[in-house]
Amino acid sequence: MSKVAFSQESLSEFERIVAQYPERRAAMLPTLYLAEKEFGHISPEVEVYVGELLQVPAIKVREVLTFYTLFASKPRGKLHFQVCRGISCDLRGCTKIIEHLQEKLNLNSEETSADLAYTLSEVECLGACETAPMMQLNDDYHGDLTTETVDLILDEKK
Ligand code: FES
Repeated sequence: MSKVAFSQESLSEFERIVAQYPERRAAMLPTLYLAEKEFGHISPEVEVYVGELLQVPAIKVREVLTFYTLFASKPRGKLHFQVCRGISCDLRGCTKIIEHLQEKLNLNSEETSADLAYTLSEVECLGACETAPMMQLNDDYHGDLTTETVDLILDEKK
């Protein structure tokens, strides 16, 4: 029996999702996405819970998690900066943006601040190359970045 559980709202969303699939286990990815949204990351307890919901052994959930590295297994900051390192963003100066964010947030890439306020990640192409260099901040895309626009975003979010 898992030690965590979805809120009523997430549980309703889960039921809506799972109803769209012929088998419960086929809803693994959207369920993990929902779980990450609810719990912030996929802890071992959440793995067990997702397994129970989908009626599969927890090891099957772990197998999916180790394949899809986009899911967080550790707590992430409230603000998750994902700076694209794809070729277009690289050619248009993403390194400068990453270095600027590292300095401003006092973090290295792939680190989370001790107060869980920020996480800085470097990611592959986010499919918005026409706005390179760009980043995803939580659910929002920010493109045509300069160090100045990054500062404006930081001021707005802090
Ligand atoms: S290379 Fe950055 S969005 Fe495609």
